[in-house]
This record gives sequence, structure tokens and C-alpha cells, in this order.
Amino acid sequence: MKIAVVQFEPKIGNTSFNLQKMISQITKIDADLIIFPELATSGYFIPTKDEIISLSLNIESAEIQELINLSNQSKKGIVFGFPEKSEKGNFNSSMLILPNGSHFIYRKTHLFFKERFLFTEGDTGFFNVYWKQFDINIGMMICYDWRFPESARTLALKGADLIVCPSNLVTDVWHISMPSRALENKVYFAVANRIGIETINDESCKFLGESAIWSYNGSILTKASKSIEEVLISEIEPQKTRDKSFNPFNDIFKDRKPEFYF
Ligand code: ACM
Repeated sequence: MKIAVVQFEPKIGNTSFNLQKMISQITKIDADLIIFPELATSGYFIPTKDEIISLSLNIESAEIQELINLSNQSKKGIVFGFPEKSEKGNFNSSMLILPNGSHFIYRKTHLFFKERFLFTEGDTGFFNVYWKQFDINIGMMICYDWRFPESARTLALKGADLIVCPSNLVTDVWHISMPSRALENKVYFAVANRIGIETINDESCKFLGESAIWSYNGSILTKASKSIEEVLISEIEPQKTRDKSFNPFNDIFKDRKPEFYF
């Protein structure tokens, strides 16, 4: 199975431009699953709740339906971050679309910085989606969720083979953490980060690229630059994540002692 991470720079506040850019990438990229950054349709540093609501999409919106149709026509799975409008609130969400038309929304659990003034706290929790064609379990988390090892651990304990993490990362310390999450859980890990700078008044967010895909042993498969739009592609073998033993006596899940962990 081939997975692709798209490192790109959305135009802030311009959903139709960003969507067209995503569509053009999905059409061009030769991969089975294509992963875009957090808030790919809207951009990140939106100043007010009213503005983020005006950029938010719901499941019935023409934009999302277009991506669902494209997934079906191209036979490619798609993951992308977007501001989601729903009856339950206004979420920083990530959607996984499979070519058979099924689609799944993860709502960001840990809100970063001023996101708390714009978004409702995620209510989906962490879950995996099984894609039969490739015999793969895919779990989603979003950006700042990385600071909590419980995010990846929960997905892995629920059976993830691959964790995808649409991101808008503004530091580079996460490069210490992501390969550790891959290694300690024996899962593939794909981070789609963005590049560029967004400014509100005198405050700026600089997004630091370096999107990457790690193998289940923590080794890096591919990594992007800090400031150029790029597509990373890796071949993965999901079934290889499932035997959690690393010698005849040790198994990283069976050896856990949860009774001592709190
Ligand atoms: C982040 O959660 N966008 C850093």
C-alpha cells in the first residue's frame, strides 16, 4: 500500500482555492491514501469565531461531497483537516474518506493555544477505521494531540496499524516525539504539516513543514523540507505492525502493567 503526505500552504480564508488545490493533488498523486494538513480547507490563524464558522463545512456541504465523489472516482482514500460545523458545535476536525463512499470524522481532542476561543472541544475520542482492501486499521489524531502520548497509545491499543496526524505545527520538538510513538506502539506514523506564515495584527504563526512518515520501528521513511510544498510517498505493510513481540519473551502490549500506571 502506498501512502502520500501532502505538505502545502493553504490560502487563509479561501476555501474554494484550497479545495481546488487539494483536488488537483489528489488527481495527480499516485498513492492509495493521501493525507493533507490540519485545517487544510480554511487556513489556521483565523481571528474570530464568526469567521471560522463562516469557513466551516458540514457533511452535506458541496465541498465535502466533491471530495467524497473524487475519492470514489479515483479509488484513493483521503484524509484532510477542516473546520467542521455541526449541531453539536464547531470543531477542528479531520475526515477520512474511503473510495466506497464511507467517511469518518475525528474531532480534535486537545485544543492548542487560542483554538479554545474558536472551537468546541472534540467529542469523538480516538478510533480506528478498517479499510478492507488493504487490510489496514487507520487512526486519526490532529497536531497538538501529539503532546499526549495517550492519543497514540489509545489508537494503538485499539488496533491502529497507521496513525495519521494532519498538523499545523509551529515548533519542531515534535520530531523527538513522533518516532517514539511509532516505536513504542509499533505503528506507522504519518504527519502532514503545512508551511507558511499567518499573521493577526502583530502576532504571527510560522508553520515549520518537515512533514514525515515513520516506520513502526521508529525509523524515518521520508521527510520534507521546512518551507517548500512537497509530496512524500512511502510504501507500507500494515500487517507487519500486529505482532508486538520483539524477542521470544517480550511483547510490548502483553508486558504492559496498567495497574501501576496511574
Ligand atoms: C496545533 O495544534 N495546531 C499546534
